[in-house]
Amino acid sequence: MIKDIINKKRLGEELTEEEMRMIFLGYLEGSVPDYQMSSFLMAICINGMTENETFILTDLFLNSGDILDFSNIPGVKVDKHSTGGVGDKTTLVVVPIVASCGVPVIKMSGRSLGYTGGTIDKLESIPGYQVELSLDDVRKQVAEVGAVMMGQTGKLCPLDKKVYALRDASGTTDSIALIAASIMSKKIAGGADKILIDVKVGRGAFMKTEEDAKKLSDIMIQIGEHYGKETRTIISNMDAPLGVAVGNALEVKEALYILEGKGKGAFYELCVLLASTMVSMAKDISLEDAKNLVEETIASGQAYRKFLEIVAYQGGDVEGILISSHTVSVCSQQSGIVRGINALEVAKLSCMLGAGRMKKEDEIDPSVGVFLNVSVGEEVMVGDPLMTLYQKTGDKVVYDISKIFEIV
Ligand code: URA
Repeated sequence: MIKDIINKKRLGEELTEEEMRMIFLGYLEGSVPDYQMSSFLMAICINGMTENETFILTDLFLNSGDILDFSNIPGVKVDKHSTGGVGDKTTLVVVPIVASCGVPVIKMSGRSLGYTGGTIDKLESIPGYQVELSLDDVRKQVAEVGAVMMGQTGKLCPLDKKVYALRDASGTTDSIALIAASIMSKKIAGGADKILIDVKVGRGAFMKTEEDAKKLSDIMIQIGEHYGKETRTIISNMDAPLGVAVGNALEVKEALYILEGKGKGAFYELCVLLASTMVSMAKDISLEDAKNLVEETIASGQAYRKFLEIVAYQGGDVEGILISSHTVSVCSQQSGIVRGINALEVAKLSCMLGAGRMKKEDEIDPSVGVFLNVSVGEEVMVGDPLMTLYQKTGDKVVYDISKIFEIV
């Protein structure tokens, strides 16, 4: 009985494959209701899952839908995924760089539910950009341009989709095993040969401690290897937002700026590390050699031109990107050093401005968001601009600035 399976997990015991199948597949076909699945998921959040249970769940997610096969596209395809962060526009920078190094990239991303937009929301802020491609379109574009950046195609992991929506609504997202199975099943179904995961840690991330980030990283590597896919991880900080822009069109503009070789901060460094790791995995060369190639494609303008080429091929026009003209500059009330910029609070503010969606039906305004004028470690004086808000209208937005900036 389903009740016995829930009880077994509540007592922290390991479930058999048959029990896992019964409850999860029952949920997919509708015989297990939401209330039973929510309490089961909560038991998982509290007691965790064993390695074997995590593998079984990944397999159930994976085999619930299509599994894509791009083996007829020449070259080693490396997929990259971030566990989610604020201002995370790395895909927009990394994909054209890697493609410029001669490595084919098929990057499927999602819209997001949460305080900030997902990669697809960011791409859709480029007028005309088509995110829905058929598998034939993908093959043609990869042959001609070397890369695609698109929404998920086919029906990948419908069981994960159903469980994830319930996790989101029932406060049960926070489980290392569930996150690992959810992400890795989609990556494996996506058809890449090798996988790179950027595991975020900090205030604005799922993983709040280094220890948990390491646990998540280890189990994802084990799952990847279980399916014969070389998997590497990078653990990167998400206390403060990544880069300076949080908002869809603003983030595309920032990505373009980085691709033009104009910015060299922590965001640039992370993009170079991710791109170099992907190139090193695909070409089987050292990280150092890959980094030289990567930096060369940025310096020569090749990566920037590749971004424009991908966008144009998918019908987009970067000249048409619209940023709201209703701006408000927020200035410091005190002098001191910026000790912290709270990623989660910036994300909430950006969502309040209209850049994120809390419900699936919510409309995103691509032109709004937050631009940070300072970074952590910088000295500020009274009256110095801390951030610029790009708003829908000139109306006053209510938020607590002391929750965003820590200045001492
Ligand atoms: N992203 C996913 O796809 N699944 C999770 O569980 C968390 C982040």
